[in-house]
Amino acid sequence: MPNRDLKTKSRSLHLSTQKITGMVLSAKEKAYKETSSEPEPEFTKKLDWPIQCTVGPGLEGAIACESETGYVNGAKGLLIYRGYDIFDLCAYSSFEEVAYLLLHGRLPRQEEFNKFTKKISEYQSLIEVKRLLMSFPVEELNPMAALRLGVNLMRQKQIYREKDDAEFISDVIATDEDSIPMETKPMGEKRPIYEFVDKQFARSEGIDSCYHLIAELATITASISRLRSGHLPLEPDPSLSHAANLLYMITGKRPTPVEERIMDICLILHADHGMNASTFATLVVASTLSDIYFSVGAGIAALNGPLHGGANEQVIRMLKEIADTENLKLWYENALKNKKRIMGFGHRVYKAYDPRARILGSLAKLIAHKNPEIENLFRISQLLEKEVISTLGKVKKVFPNVDFFSGIIYSALGIEPEMFPLIFAVSRVAGWTARVLEYLKHNRIFRPRSIYIGPFNQQYVPMEKR
Ligand code: SDX
Repeated sequence: MPNRDLKTKSRSLHLSTQKITGMVLSAKEKAYKETSSEPEPEFTKKLDWPIQCTVGPGLEGAIACESETGYVNGAKGLLIYRGYDIFDLCAYSSFEEVAYLLLHGRLPRQEEFNKFTKKISEYQSLIEVKRLLMSFPVEELNPMAALRLGVNLMRQKQIYREKDDAEFISDVIATDEDSIPMETKPMGEKRPIYEFVDKQFARSEGIDSCYHLIAELATITASISRLRSGHLPLEPDPSLSHAANLLYMITGKRPTPVEERIMDICLILHADHGMNASTFATLVVASTLSDIYFSVGAGIAALNGPLHGGANEQVIRMLKEIADTENLKLWYENALKNKKRIMGFGHRVYKAYDPRARILGSLAKLIAHKNPEIENLFRISQLLEKEVISTLGKVKKVFPNVDFFSGIIYSALGIEPEMFPLIFAVSRVAGWTARVLEYLKHNRIFRPRSIYIGPFNQQYVPMEKR
């Protein structure tokens, strides 16, 4: 292509990725305008445990721990990671930089960023794990089950690596009123506390496993997608960004700058979200001092559910079931009559529009035109959004959530619906690992209570007399 055309092409590409930044910032402006009347968030200060809180079924309202990692303001529809508004991170940052921010608590300087991205790129090549994965019938497995299998194989590889390294000894002192105290802090503490004797774990060993998981979940996910479509897994291209590599390793094609930017923003938006079910599952396992691979495996299992990370796949099925905008009204009337859960709507915390859905909705609009079938799904989604907001939104504050538009975007990027929850995990592993590291600094095993409402004083009756 003659030089002049190249310049025009790169300028137009630059313009289109610039256009995306503009879209994100106007979504921010709209969000702030619509929620300005909502009360300012009562940012909690450090708590003086034990505390009183009103708890509903499913631990609704329960405060599990303090965190500096991320904050969800449900009333205002705001999401922040380490104090940075998600709109600004989507406009100006990258998934790699956001992963570093979540893990380390601040944005990296250039040399730190270069070191981090170099490590992520090195760790992404997983030849032996992919070979092991291919010895299983991956194409027949539930994709999230295959992802958990991949994480177990990664764990095995990590253990071999540690054995190869210098003698890896780490004493851990952990006690709990329920377990036999091994060694605790000198008496006088309000309660036994956990800590790792070699602080080094929380800094180096732990952080390195987090880097491995962030890097390698993308490779494992792409390998599963390739094996499901009858292709061999591809090696990552070290010249590509995390988002571009994920798309390249799945589709076999290097994405355009616009596709890369859209994928990168999707990864930023899914990276962390307070104490959601999968993050909580991850922390519960971590709090037993099991290891980070088992913790992430628990997070993947929880994320799989259609009420959580599996909703994006259900949204696409729902839109395909509606099939045409003509059918929407009748479909929706039936759904309301049958008290059907509309996938991609509602949220335990957001009682305003999910800020992530605001951004994803504009990206879906931008990319849906690539394919008439996806454009049709997007048109149906727009009408459904209007219907729900004007009914359930008004009465029950049910609005689109992060899963409503992400499936349309992933379909347009060439990803099959069964793989959508895995893409969610590729991003959320940053929040999971960041919160595990944070929680383990002041660990306490999760052990809530259940209220016994069964009978007492039952007398045993031999089988023949029952
Ligand atoms: C994610 O927690 C997180 O942060 C999760 C997440 C993250 O980033 O980690 O944001 C990701 O999981 C998003 C949610 C994806 N799931 C779906 O889209 C599935 C559909 N949504 C729902 O099932 C539901 O909204 C939940 C599970 C998300 C939240 O459920 P809650 O908090 O238990 O809400 P609820 O059942 O108390 O609902 C309150 C009312 C009920 O009506 P009433 O019984 O009071 O008459 O709102 C209704 C619900 O019936 N309602 C819905 C609805 N969601 C809530 N009605 C129709 N369709 C829906 N989607």
